Amino acid sequence: MITIVKNKSVEKNYIAMINVIKDFLDTEDDIIANLANISAIINCYVEKLNWVGFYILKDEDLVLGPFQGNPACIRIKAGAGVCQYAVRTNKTVNVPNVNEFEGHIACDSKTLSELVVPVYKNNNIYAILDLDSPFLNRFSALEENYISKVCSLISDFLSK
Ligand code: SME
Repeated sequence: MITIVKNKSVEKNYIAMINVIKDFLDTEDDIIANLANISAIINCYVEKLNWVGFYILKDEDLVLGPFQGNPACIRIKAGAGVCQYAVRTNKTVNVPNVNEFEGHIACDSKTLSELVVPVYKNNNIYAILDLDSPFLNRFSALEENYISKVCSLISDFLSK
């Protein structure tokens, strides 16, 4: 049985999240199973999200992977939206107000802010991890830091 224990400190929850994800990656070799559980674990530990999940880079398209939330855009073509911007710039993208990001793709009209972090396999982008929130300016340096740690763990898993 998997028990998710949460406490009042946001950072302690994020540390717990990292440890749970490490345990999963240490015990299962299937990437899709792991990405599915990682999206569920983030959804348990990170408050105020309306969607969290992966898009996997296939040729130039980002194709929907494991996620938590409402059904989402299946295939995002190169050049479109925040997720492809993260691929193009090869960087984390933190958007405090999606209505001010030209070209943002609204899979869910409730989304107001968004954090996108690349996941690498042998130094090439394998996927992006996308977190959406119905609150403006939801993601701070704290979330950037811990979600980047999650992506580093996945990158290590993929590159070993
Ligand atoms: N908003 C993203 C699309 C993915 S959904 O948010 C799940 C974008 O602009 O790329």
